[in-house]
Amino acid sequence: MKRVITYGTFDVLHYGHINLLKRAKALGDYLIVGLSSDEFNAVKNKKSYYNYEQRKKILESLRFVDLVIPEDNWEQKVSDIKEFRADIFVMGDDWEGKFDFLKEHCAVVYLSRTPDVSSSMTKEFLLG
Ligand code: CTP
Repeated sequence: MKRVITYGTFDVLHYGHINLLKRAKALGDYLIVGLSSDEFNAVKNKKSYYNYEQRKKILESLRFVDLVIPEDNWEQKVSDIKEFRADIFVMGDDWEGKFDFLKEHCAVVYLSRTPDVSSSMTKEFLLG
């Protein structure tokens, strides 16, 4: 059983997220999503439209997401990889190279980002 882990805010879920999550799951058998908490988003200077519990509920309803855990800080990735026995760490290629230090714990894969869509673009368009 290959376990895959990825992280993000996943606010106002869009097809770029779906593309990423579907390809992440296809790399293994079990997909864990570390979902940024509202407090951690504040640290990253991000404000989500949907709160943590709402974003969690949406992600949990996707058939290719097996488990959603909170992402509370930048430092937890190594302990998550160990605790959840992740074999592969996945991020979109906007993070290319940034997580290479995790390679001593598991495989690190960067997947190409879907062009022309993002949560911030959607929010800007819908909310002005
Ligand atoms: N992602 C992607 N393609 C997109 C947007 C996001 O593959 N068009 C991926 C990111 O690379 C990341 C994951 O989806 O691995 C979660 O990204 P997140 O930052 O939550 O989504 P964005 O839409 O980029 O959000 P924002 O506009 O707030 O930066």
